[in-house]
Amino acid sequence: METVVSGIRSTGNLHLGNYYGAIQNFVKMQHQYNCYFFIADLHSLTTHPTPADLHGNVRQVLVEYLAAGIDPERATIYLQSDVPETAELYLFLNMNAYLGELERATSFKDKVRANPDNVNAGLLTYPVLMAADIILHRATKVPVGKDQEQHLEMARTFANRFNRLYNNEYFPEPYAFNFSENLVKIPGLDGKGKMGKSEGEGNAIFLSDSPEVIRKKVMKAVTDSGPTEENSEKPVEIQNLFDIMKVVSSADTYEHFDNLYNTCQIRYGDLKKQLAEDITIATAPIREKINDISNDAAYLRQVARHGAIKARESAQKTIRDVREIIGFRNF
Ligand code: TRP
Repeated sequence: METVVSGIRSTGNLHLGNYYGAIQNFVKMQHQYNCYFFIADLHSLTTHPTPADLHGNVRQVLVEYLAAGIDPERATIYLQSDVPETAELYLFLNMNAYLGELERATSFKDKVRANPDNVNAGLLTYPVLMAADIILHRATKVPVGKDQEQHLEMARTFANRFNRLYNNEYFPEPYAFNFSENLVKIPGLDGKGKMGKSEGEGNAIFLSDSPEVIRKKVMKAVTDSGPTEENSEKPVEIQNLFDIMKVVSSADTYEHFDNLYNTCQIRYGDLKKQLAEDITIATAPIREKINDISNDAAYLRQVARHGAIKARESAQKTIRDVREIIGFRNF
């Protein structure tokens, strides 16, 4: 069975866009592949979080992924920092990662531009750590978005370089992979592009948002003054609301409002009220699970321990082989 690895950023709550896109993809994959999903808490150290923030963020991310349907009995879900073999492979790979190629990475250049006072070595070697995460389990499939394509290419470079240096084919090449051809894209509420937490306050609806917060955010969504001509094309901010409705509401509801729009009788206040209600209903089971799991420290501990054991089994095998290949041998 092919192996899938994906790293989950350890900051930020899940929003509707994550849920209907990447997460549902993960949930499907766990039935068909040998999946490792880990929380990238080592990567998060590049920004120097406080100990309390680090732990709180990791905990929340773990809770939300479990609530959203990642099954720890099917997939291996673990914390990157619980698998020290990651750091060891990172060290080995760093010996064959060159300054020039690391400096050329787009993500590195972006970070340098954004935070010129914190250009640390961890930031520079971020793609090496990511390569270690992936090839530690000798994975071939990596479910990531377009923004990670360059990092994956670097992971292939580092894997191939190791193979060439030691004249073997130990590491397979990892490739970006998505289960469904077209992932569901949920637009944001700001009348522009897709839902994202960095697009500004109120643009994203989080799975942990209360019904009141959901309603407030939806009521504030950008709209226009309404159609003046029958069957006219919807402007992007209106189309966005309909796109969300398509995912969370019934077909009847969608058609009802689509007809009102096409006959110029739509009242956006009504549409938003309905949309907020349907988002609340669609996300209610997850919100409940987030609460339940968050209050169940024993369960979280058990999941993390179980995940660490499974991940280390796979990682230790790789490290044993890699040490042998490199020439670290027992006397
Ligand atoms: N860089 C990824 C992101 O920002 C997170 C990540 C770290 C990752 N290690 C990984 C993704 C390994 C896939 C595989 O989203």
